[in-house]
Amino acid sequence: MFKKKIKNILKKKGKKSIICLTAYSKPIAEILDKHCDIILVGDSVGMVLYGEKSTREVKLETMLLHAKAVKKSTKNSLVVVDMPYKTYTNKSTAYKNAKKIIKNTKCDAVKVEGGKKISNIIKYLVKKKIPVMGHIGLLPQYSVRYQTQGKNEKEKKNILNDAMMLEKSGVFAIVIECVYEDLAKKITKSISVPTIGIGASKHCDGQILVTDDMLGLSNFTPKFVKKYSNIRKVIENSVKKYCSDVSSKKFPSSKNVYNL
Ligand code: KIV
Repeated sequence: MFKKKIKNILKKKGKKSIICLTAYSKPIAEILDKHCDIILVGDSVGMVLYGEKSTREVKLETMLLHAKAVKKSTKNSLVVVDMPYKTYTNKSTAYKNAKKIIKNTKCDAVKVEGGKKISNIIKYLVKKKIPVMGHIGLLPQYSVRYQTQGKNEKEKKNILNDAMMLEKSGVFAIVIECVYEDLAKKITKSISVPTIGIGASKHCDGQILVTDDMLGLSNFTPKFVKKYSNIRKVIENSVKKYCSDVSSKKFPSSKNVYNL
């Protein structure tokens, strides 16, 4: 039923870590495509690129533009697109918008946030042949504060239930965001589809981070983000050098001018 790329990801559960990162543009997508199993065109684009306060401000049209750019620049990775806030409130709206995403961008799958409340919507999308990735734990489209989830038995039970409902609804993988380690471990062991953690420990079947966070380009550095670079500093140093070269007339040099 699922296409080859998804089947390969499913096979990795419990055997090999599934590598995922986000991309919103051609240059980043081209690099990630050489290394990642999944590239997510996340609605985090709203905060990261457009300076919005939350992902709620992101429109479907914005996701279509970024998803098209990413898909055009990739061959290997599975490209998943976030469905923005309020674009999957019922079965028919969800299907209309998911179809628009897949048809216009040629991406492979969509991601939606939520557990049992949206399981019927997910079931419907899957029935209509739209591959769906779930997202449980902290839900950026619905949370006012960035807070670790699953702190008492009731919360843990609800999140585990959400995971099981999503599995039943036919998702091919589930992002688990910002939950306590013991819960992430339990969910991963309890379901047959891969779990992709963000702030959810090494016990998940794969990991995802927002690329701009791990590169040190954004200013968002919660505990779960490891900074692999300080691109902000690299850019700043380059800009300073450019300013100095322009001021001192070192740039443009003879190498950068046209002469007949
Ligand atoms: O929007 C996004 O980038 C995400 C990831 C953080 C999982 O949903």
